[in-house]
Amino acid sequence: MALRTIREIGDPVLNKKAKNVTEMNDRIRTLIADMLETMYESNGVGLAAPQVGILKRIVVIDITPDASCPHVLINPVITEQDGEQTGMEGCLSVPGKQGQVTRPNHVRVQALDGNMQPIELEGEELLARAICHELDHLDGHLYVELAEGELVDVQPPTEEDEED
Ligand code: NI
Repeated sequence: MALRTIREIGDPVLNKKAKNVTEMNDRIRTLIADMLETMYESNGVGLAAPQVGILKRIVVIDITPDASCPHVLINPVITEQDGEQTGMEGCLSVPGKQGQVTRPNHVRVQALDGNMQPIELEGEELLARAICHELDHLDGHLYVELAEGELVDVQPPTEEDEED
C-alpha cells in the first residue's frame, strides 16, 4: 500500500464526473487499499477516488475514531433519503476550512463492495453526511458549492493533539 497525493480545490479533476467500475482488478484493489491508507493517515472520515486523481466511482468511508469500520462503496447510488441536518463539514481537498451544509439526516445507498458484491448501507447523522459528501465528489461537486455563508478557518491539529 502507499499514500496517494490528495488533490486540492482548483484542481480540475475534482470537477469531473467519475466513471462506473465495470470489473475488479489488481489496479483497483491497490487503489482501494491506498485510498483507505490515505484517508486514515489524513484523519479523514471519507475519501473519493477523484480526490486522488482517479475518475472512478469508488469511495471509502470510516466515521469511527478507531478506524474500525471501513466502508468501500463502488458505483454507489442513493436509493432513499429523508430528514435534514445542518452542521459543519470539511473536506481533505479543502484543507484548513469548514462550512455549514444542510444534508439529509438519513440515507440508504446501494453499491458494490470491494469484491464487486452488491451491498446496501444505511446511515444517519455523520454517516449520512459522509455518504452524501463522498458521492458528490463522484459527480464533480465539492461541499463548498452547498455551504451556507462563508467558510471558516480550522486550526490544524498540533503535535500534542496527535495520539500516536
Ligand atoms: Ni471531500
